[in-house]
Amino acid sequence: MKIDDKSCSDLGKKYKEKYFESIKNPEKFWKEIALSRLDWEKVPTEFYSGNLVNGDAKWFADGRLNVSYNCIDRHVLAGLGGRVAYYYESDSGLRQVITYNDLLENVSRLANVLKSQNIKKGDTVCIYMPSIPEAIYSMLACTRIGAIHSVVFAGFSLESLKKRIDDAECNAIITVDSFFRGGKEIILFERIKSVLDECQSLKKILISPRSTDFMSVDERVINLAKAMVEVSNVCAPEWMFGEDPLFILYTSGSTGSPKGVLHTTAGYLLYVTYTHEQSFDLRSNDIYWSASDIGWITGHSYLVYGPLSNGTTSILFDGVPSHPSPSRVWDMIDRYKVSIYYSTPTIIRSLQRAGDEFLKSSKRESLRILGSVGEPINPEAWRWLDDRIGNNKCIIVDTWWQTETGGHALLPLPGVVKTKPGAAMLPFYGVEPVIVNLKGKVISSPYVPGSLLLKGAWPGHLRGLYKDRDRFINNYLIPYPGYFYTGDSAYIDEDGHIWVNGRIDDVLNIAGRLIGTAELESSIVSHPCATEAAAVAGPDEVKGSCIHVFVLLRNGTLSSSRLTDELKSCVAGCIGSFAKPDYIHIVESLPKTRSGKIMRRILRKIVHDEVDDFGDISTLSNSESVSQLTEYWDVFRNG
Ligand code: WT7
Repeated sequence: MKIDDKSCSDLGKKYKEKYFESIKNPEKFWKEIALSRLDWEKVPTEFYSGNLVNGDAKWFADGRLNVSYNCIDRHVLAGLGGRVAYYYESDSGLRQVITYNDLLENVSRLANVLKSQNIKKGDTVCIYMPSIPEAIYSMLACTRIGAIHSVVFAGFSLESLKKRIDDAECNAIITVDSFFRGGKEIILFERIKSVLDECQSLKKILISPRSTDFMSVDERVINLAKAMVEVSNVCAPEWMFGEDPLFILYTSGSTGSPKGVLHTTAGYLLYVTYTHEQSFDLRSNDIYWSASDIGWITGHSYLVYGPLSNGTTSILFDGVPSHPSPSRVWDMIDRYKVSIYYSTPTIIRSLQRAGDEFLKSSKRESLRILGSVGEPINPEAWRWLDDRIGNNKCIIVDTWWQTETGGHALLPLPGVVKTKPGAAMLPFYGVEPVIVNLKGKVISSPYVPGSLLLKGAWPGHLRGLYKDRDRFINNYLIPYPGYFYTGDSAYIDEDGHIWVNGRIDDVLNIAGRLIGTAELESSIVSHPCATEAAAVAGPDEVKGSCIHVFVLLRNGTLSSSRLTDELKSCVAGCIGSFAKPDYIHIVESLPKTRSGKIMRRILRKIVHDEVDDFGDISTLSNSESVSQLTEYWDVFRNG
């Protein structure tokens, strides 16, 4: 990675100086930002020690602060309590205005309810809710009393939810009785109570009533709305040390169960505050909209913590962008005068495909910055966003990062560098990207793809996997000693700018959501008729990629459309509907190495129609399976 004059504008020269400062002297760099951007109960004297690549980095360890205080109280104390924190709009069009005063009131009450249920500092609390105001109150209430939250995306099945509750040993769960998505009501109330009996650590379930005013006869089941009225609206924040755990968020890995990524208090808050400000060139009158669900890291960092810490006015939307019509997002941008819209390539492509007639009802003149995250954005979608949505007046900021990096790691900072459609461009302060070949040698020639690794000092990176240090070290730090392993493939162009291709490990990125092949395959073989399965990603115009699963059936089982539907339902039941495979291919054999491993790279080539050259297949034990599969594919494609 080289940053030379060619790659930078005038503003870019300032960036370059600042960037090298952040690499040369991280302690000084982040100290200054920590003191100017956050409010401390006790200012730290220890700023930075250890290192990410040794798994022992510590930031602001002896400083004391509270996240909810920084996100709410300090703005209220500065006289900004009447400022809007969120304009909430629901799937069905219900609207609500939430000020910083309202946040303080609701978060304090919810925190007092948690306390009254004996939830204490250091306990873990699961939050299983759509992106509604109560979900945000719940996250902030946890941080107010020092409880560690684990938000589980509401699209995950109860099976996935239970696994995550067990892994994090959650003491309580906050959830809803029902919710709406795309006009459909999803009733959770009766089913959700089963988690209480099945998850040992769980003592309480707090339900925020959405459709019913339910009465509970079970003292473990609490009506959150009722309880909030009965407690005080004042709750003193618990002062936390810089490295106290803040939250756990699960992300899919290539093997085994999802990984509980752990973020800690001060470093995370500082990094999301600062990146949110810098990446979007934030101004005090901005109206900001992040389209992410709170169940993903983007929702944590750039819908809740970054924006609130900066005192921003945001849009909170829990609906589907194309419901009731593909003009909804654009009309909302006009209605609220949104100036920064942070979205995903999948949403952009699906609205692009709906047709430009849906742009007629809006002008989108308030827009200034358009952000993208989750997967590589293809140049066509990038240009459509630029021309049609942004009227060629906006800066497009393609942000590459991961649950593990906590916040933006690669991006074109506004004004710093001329953007290129599809490129993640340059590192954020403190982040040192390196691209290496299979032998671990740094690739400095342009257009040669390799493994993207990181080193450097930025305070927002994960501190580990919850209660699993070995897995943390093995997964991220062992593959290339001295570097953090991202699992992505990338290359640089002749200007030294970075382009990210996508995952190289066995993780599928479908519509910006990671799904582990191992998880998906094991849910397929939970069906009694399936003996083996191999999942790979194929191209898809809207979602970017789609899921193909190649399945071997038990001897004597016949393939049928009913069976393939059942296999898809297995995935919906075990993981969630969003992970349902697009295609199930019942085949006779799978390409296997002599050691018995499925060679997924062959299947990947097949679903990409690249059947001319499979590379080295000398280690296959059943090379005939390659020709069987290409014949199968030929028939599938043409008929
Ligand atoms: C993976 C991380 C970061 C928040 C959302 C996903 C892919 C993410 C980009 C981008 C190319 C991207 C990578 C990364 N990814 N943003 N701008 N360009 N790829 O968080 O679930 O932890 O997924 O998403 O493959 O490793 P996540």
